[in-house]
This record gives sequence, structure tokens and C-alpha cells, in this order.
Amino acid sequence: MSEKKQMLLGLGFTGAYGANAKAWKSEGVTVTTYPDINADIRYAQLAEKCKFQFLFIGDFPGAIPDDNREVPAMTLEPIITATAILQQTKHIGVASTVHTQWNNPFTLARQFKGIDLMSGGRIAWNAVTGSSPKVAENFGVKLMDSRSRYESHYEFVETVQHLWATWGKDALKADKETGIFADYSQVKPVHISGKYIQAIGALPIPPSPQGQPVIFHSGGSPNSIEFAGRYASVMIGEVWTREQGIATRNALRQVAIDAGRNPDEIKFIAGLMPVVANSKREAIDRHASFMDENIVQQRAFHIGMVLGISLTPEDLERPIAPELLDKVKIGAYSDPRAENVLKVAREGWTLRDIIYHSVIDYHPATLGDAKETADYLTEMFESGAADGFWILPDAYETDFKRFVEEVVPILQERGLFHEDYNGDTLRENLGVPYQYGVDKRLS
Ligand SMILES: Cc1cc2nc3c(=O)[nH]c(=O)nc-3n(C[C@H](O)[C@H](O)[C@H](O)COP(=O)(O)O)c2cc1C
Repeated sequence: MSEKKQMLLGLGFTGAYGANAKAWKSEGVTVTTYPDINADIRYAQLAEKCKFQFLFIGDFPGAIPDDNREVPAMTLEPIITATAILQQTKHIGVASTVHTQWNNPFTLARQFKGIDLMSGGRIAWNAVTGSSPKVAENFGVKLMDSRSRYESHYEFVETVQHLWATWGKDALKADKETGIFADYSQVKPVHISGKYIQAIGALPIPPSPQGQPVIFHSGGSPNSIEFAGRYASVMIGEVWTREQGIATRNALRQVAIDAGRNPDEIKFIAGLMPVVANSKREAIDRHASFMDENIVQQRAFHIGMVLGISLTPEDLERPIAPELLDKVKIGAYSDPRAENVLKVAREGWTLRDIIYHSVIDYHPATLGDAKETADYLTEMFESGAADGFWILPDAYETDFKRFVEEVVPILQERGLFHEDYNGDTLRENLGVPYQYGVDKRLS
């Protein structure tokens, strides 16, 4: 086994066919898999075959696209999806998103602890508050202001962690000779009467091999970093530049230190949309096939806004003039994507091709051969911009397959990604410690 520090890899499960809402139309994609849990299981098994540590299931429940050509982001509910996947896999962990603003801590604690036990310790809860008013409406809830959202989030998460530990580690006896099934004096119900959460009771579920589910958090705001640094083992982020990654990761680690934790227990994971093809041109054309002309036209204006210059669809077929690029000023308040846009624009691509580089998408994209993606991951990882990456391929059946077959072996050859799973539980495979109950070190 390599002694070198190694990156973590996860697959983003944010759509039925791939991370791209247009993936369903793509060549080689089986269109009848909506919604088909067996397809999800196949993608998870592919990620497991190449030793990914986790799947990340994002969720904006009930969000229906405005555009008839797009697939809803997440179709099946994340806990149900995770349960089915974990039954058909042996090593990979699954992080499922469930919001705290409109769920109940007892139900959530019970569901996640049950799956953790069933899967031999491979589930994680992506604990987010929920920030979409449209999603809140589905639950008949009005979004709270940011401060209250996070105040209640802390209470919710602590309640869940207390509930997870209500069954004492050694309470289960199941001893036929003595006739004792359990020592119920070791089952300690919670009595929580908080500002937002009330709960009295206990869960009749023993610890899993990893103790309790891992906490993930996805976000990037100061509140997110503050929460994740204290409570999470993994933070799923959005990183546009090496410097931004380094700053966010350091901020997260500092919160952990201030809270009394070891900063190595919190892993910062950056997103990447890799397009692996035989050449850069082929990758750009492939990625372009997922983008409708109306999106390209809108992004022409948008790129101008990001750079602070005026651009329109009339500029699409030519490079942005160098004199115009020289006028761009990037400062502390610029869009975090501006630096990437400028870098690609300076390479002399037409505005259309700059847009096809996905410079203003949800996450950065790498477009080219497998080495191009492997080099990006290597550079970001080795410079301390992330502890690992969540991969968002346009289409799972085709693009993810190429990542698995071509990029992963390069990372393994470089000693930067493990050849096999080190342990049986998600905590072991992430390199984070066993936990049962709340973290007693937190001040
Ligand atoms: C990379 C990333 C992934 C996210 N995934 C989800 C998600 O799956 N579901 C969700 O409701 N919110 C998701 N969010 C939103 C955040 O949890 C958060 O609510 C948002 O960034 C606004 O910040 P705030 O809640 O601190 O105000 C995500 C954010 C980021 C940056």
C-alpha cells in the first residue's frame, strides 16, 4: 500500500441519467431507465468496481424543471435509493441528503441508524437546512431566515446524534442461558426541550460497525463552514480555483481546531465535471451536445457579466478581443468563476467554445483526454485545495465509464488513489474516526 496521502473520490448522484439534465438524449444512454433503481444500482456498482469511497445523493425534493427537455434532478427519494443500493453493494458508502427544516429528528435518526446497521456501517446523512423556497412549499413550510435555519439545524443534528446513542453499546445481551435479552438500564432516553426541537425517547437499535452514520454537509457559505467544521466528517463543496479551495479547506480545518477536533477528521470535497474524450476538440464537441442553443445565447450575456464587459450572442463565433480582456479587473468581489473564464478566453477560443468549456456551470469542467482530468485532480489535491472530489459526469453510462476506465488507473499509478478499500465501514474508508453519540470534545 502506498504511504502517500491519497485522495477520496465520490460519484455525484444528482440526476437520473447523469449530472446533465440533457443526459437522457445522449447517444449510448438507455432512455427507458426513468426512474429505474436498477440503473442507479448499476452506476453505484461501477463506482464500487473502481473503489470510489462514496456516492453523494443531492436532493431538492419535488423540484420540477420549467423546460420540457429536461429531466427532474432527483427522482427517487434519497433514503429509499440508498437502501436499495446498499443492499446490492459491499464496500461503497452512500451519503443521502435530508433537510432539517421540514423533517422530524426521531424519524430521521431511526431511518439512518437502521440503514447503517443493515449496511454494515456504510451510510452517511448529508445534513442540510434546505434553502429553496420552492422546495419548502412542498412541505407547507415557509423558509426561516438564515440565522434561525442554522440555529434549528444545530439543535436537530445534536438531537439526532443523541438519539443514535440512546441504546448503550453493550445493552444487547441476547443470552439464552440467563434469559436476558437486553440490559435496558443501558438504554438512556433523550429528554430534549430546545427552542426548535422537542424529543423524549430512545431508539431500540444497537450500534453499527462504524457506531453511527457519518455526517456530511454540502454548501459553501460561512454558516455552512461553521456547521461542517464542528459536526461533519465530510463537506461537499463547489471550488472554482486552487486558491479558493485552499482558503475554504483551511477555514473548515480552523473551525474544527477551534471546536476541539483534529482537523484531519473533516474532509473537504470539491466538485468536478470531467469530459473525457480522445482530444480536447472531441471533448468540447461532446459537452456541447448537452447544451441547447438558448442556453448558449443566455450564457453569452452571462459571461460578459462575470467579466464585467459587454458581450452578446453576436459575439459567439469569434474570440473575445485581447484589448477587451485586458480591461477585465478581478477583485475580491468578482464572481469566483471569473479567473477560469479569463484563462480560457486568453487561450483564444471563440465565445461559443468558451461557453462549451462550462466555465460558468455549477462546477469546473475538464475537457480533453484522461490525462487532462488526472492532472487537474492531481494539482488540486497536491496543492491542498481539496481532500478529494465528487465527480459529476454528463451521463453515467458513457462519460462515467470513461472516467472509471481511463482516469482512475492514472491516479492509481501515481499513488494518489487507493487500489482497494482499507476497511469495511464508510468511516474507515474515509479515514474518519468511530463515533457514537455527540462528539464530547465540542465546546
Ligand atoms: C456543492 C453544493 C451542494 C449542495 N447540495 C444541496 C442539496 O442537495 N440539497 C439542498 O437542499 N441544498 C444543497 N445545497 C445548498 C446548501 O446546503 C446551502 O443551503 C446553500 O449553499 C445556501 O447557503 P446557506 O444555507 O448557508 O444560506 C448545496 C450547495 C452546494 C454548494
